[in-house]
Amino acid sequence: MDIDSKTKLVGILGDPVSHSLSPRMQNAAFRAASLNYCYLPLHVGANRLPAAIEGLRAMRFRGANVTIPHKAAAAELLDCMGRSAAQAGAVNTIVNDDGELTGHNTDGAGFISALAEVANVDFARAPAVIFGAGGAARSVAVALAEKGVPRIAVINRTIEKARDLKAILMREFPGIEAAAGLKEDCNGLISASKLLINATSVGMSGSLKRIPAPVDKLTEDHIVCDLVYSGRQETPLMVAAREKGATTMGGLGMLLHQGAASFKLWTGAEPSIEVMREALES
Ligand code: ATR
Repeated sequence: MDIDSKTKLVGILGDPVSHSLSPRMQNAAFRAASLNYCYLPLHVGANRLPAAIEGLRAMRFRGANVTIPHKAAAAELLDCMGRSAAQAGAVNTIVNDDGELTGHNTDGAGFISALAEVANVDFARAPAVIFGAGGAARSVAVALAEKGVPRIAVINRTIEKARDLKAILMREFPGIEAAAGLKEDCNGLISASKLLINATSVGMSGSLKRIPAPVDKLTEDHIVCDLVYSGRQETPLMVAAREKGATTMGGLGMLLHQGAASFKLWTGAEPSIEVMREALES
């Protein structure tokens, strides 16, 4: 990759960020499209997020991705917000237009595109249970509600955050049935659902052996999505769900499609999905 004075910079703000596959995926796509862009991992602690975002502006970055744990905090620090980011209160993509920073959320649309690759979902008949209530959970919940899912139950270790997400859903989608609960309460909800989504960070490297959701009630009618990605390996939740006969989806598909949408926001061009997928799988 030739870097010169015209190279446009983008990066990913996160803590941790060393595990991120986005630099490899995005740089491969820029090269394949002959675009003079460079994508950098940017390790930023929570107390430095305002300075880092100001730095993007000062150093004329074209934009950035935002990941754990900054997706909600970033939403408070930008000049404008796109619709999905405003609804979810979570930003995963920043675009810098001559010093004006806009927050977007491509996670939700990325999730829906990835889901379409594994199953043909009739959303109007697909109640969902989401584990987690952070930025990723909010993005997926809003995207599913937008698709017409009739009921969403949010299960989280910290019940207040689950209630906050329930309140967002009821405010933005008045017809929806939303619930908030703890893991102990969720067996009945899982039985009555079609989609089960892990949007917690449980199952990421370091805690790979843990399963974030009970699997007893899963059947072959369920679709189980684990947004955690752990290379080619299936997460423990995916293994357990597959053994119950459920359809499973890992986190790579969502990573791929959210990244493709971010690429388009920065460059205005369509990336090669195949090049991005290969970069993730290599
Ligand atoms: P992201 O932006 O990727 O969603 P986040 O906002 O930090 O990241 O959210 C992480 C989610 O994982 C939260 O729902 C968190 O639960 P809390 O709200 O209780 O913190 C969940 N999480 C993280 N570690 C967990 C653990 N060990 N057990 C259960 N849930 C966990």
